[in-house]
Amino acid sequence: MFLATALRRIARGTLASLSRGAFFAFIVVWDIALVLVNLVAFKRKVGHVTPKGHPGAGGVWPEYIPPRAGDSRCACPALNAMSNHGILPRNGRNIPFRELPGKVRATYNFSPTFSLFVPRYMASILGRSFSKDTLNLSDIDVHNGIEHDASLTREDTYHAKSQALPLPALVAALLRSATGPPQPGHTLAEDELAGSESKSGKDTPELEGPPYADRRREARATNPQYSQSFNAKMFGTSNASGLTTIFGGRMDDIRVFLAEERLPAGWESRVREPMGLTFGAFNVTAIRVELGIEEEVRGPAVP
Ligand code: HEM
Ligand SMILES: *[C@@H]1O[C@H](CO)[C@@H](O)[C@H](O)[C@H]1NC(C)=O
Ligand SMILES: *[C@@H]1O[C@H](CO)[C@@H](O)[C@H](O)[C@H]1NC(C)=O
Ligand SMILES: *[C@@H]1O[C@H](CO)[C@@H](O)[C@H](O)[C@H]1NC(C)=O
Repeated sequence: MFLATALRRIARGTLASLSRGAFFAFIVVWDIALVLVNLVAFKRKVGHVTPKGHPGAGGVWPEYIPPRAGDSRCACPALNAMSNHGILPRNGRNIPFRELPGKVRATYNFSPTFSLFVPRYMASILGRSFSKDTLNLSDIDVHNGIEHDASLTREDTYHAKSQALPLPALVAALLRSATGPPQPGHTLAEDELAGSESKSGKDTPELEGPPYADRRREARATNPQYSQSFNAKMFGTSNASGLTTIFGGRMDDIRVFLAEERLPAGWESRVREPMGLTFGAFNVTAIRVELGIEEEVRGPAVP
């Protein structure tokens, strides 16, 4: 009796990890195929990136309504923005996991691999079923699940109970870190995001509060529970890389996206590859941003 139960558990556990491994392999192979398709296929035409029939097609986003008391929001500006525009339920609640991939993909032109992998990963962290269960946006803020310290726009969990809203001072610091005069079309370069010196010339303003390196150093100095696994660092950096790819680094759009969690009228993803932003392409940006971060060598480490 006992032995049978134990054996059944072991079998179930083995099956689960086998299928996790198989799923991961499946995503990797699929992603490589998408990278190859993107390499040879024509890009989508400007003005036609968001697919016909989806909210935002032709740059027409459904009405923006900021969250109201009782609405559920999270640390991710992209998901919050989708709720603020009613692409996801406006109250941010009872969202079936399986609705996320299609909507994330259509809204931001992330690849189907990314759009499937991340929500499934989220479901597994929360111990829920991707195919049957739902989530409230605030659920994804489980600390050190995916949510982590030293985010670009959120206070550490240690300082703030809720990760639902951006902290205006942090957003302002990020926006200031772009070199050159603020003007439409001005872009946030990858080296600025990483917090290293700008390579774009000496007469650009000094970088103030270069996001990642500074945020990590400051967070370490002020938060006794500061923690950052390499994984979390990597995730955070790849998140920031979304700003240089999906938003093309354009400060006017990024300002609206981060400060108001709104998609500007007329906006569409700057990624025009038909198969969207793949892990393959994304990793390259993520790694470049991560290697540009010189946290350890810039200034004394704070205990
Ligand atoms: C597919 C579903 C997605 C899930 C489950 C998800 C989840 C998360 C989570 C948990 C965080 C918080 C990390 C932290 O503590 O800093 C985060 C941050 C972020 N996400 Fe998402 N995300 C998703 C899609 C996207 C997409 C499509 C974008 C497109 C641009 C995006 C952009 C960002 C950015 C820029 C941040 C950083 C915010 C900051 O550092 O303050 N996310 N996301
Ligand atoms: C989401 O929030 C609603 C309303 O507060 C609640 O009834 C529901 O149980 C929550 N869903 C999950 C998955 O926690
Ligand atoms: C944002 O961060 C979470 C983990 O921090 C990750 O799962 C998600 O893929 C990231 N989103 C982007 C656009 O990189
Ligand atoms: C690269 O992409 C794979 C998925 O294809 C992901 O699991 C891995 O964490 C990424 N690596 C980096 C360094 O971003």
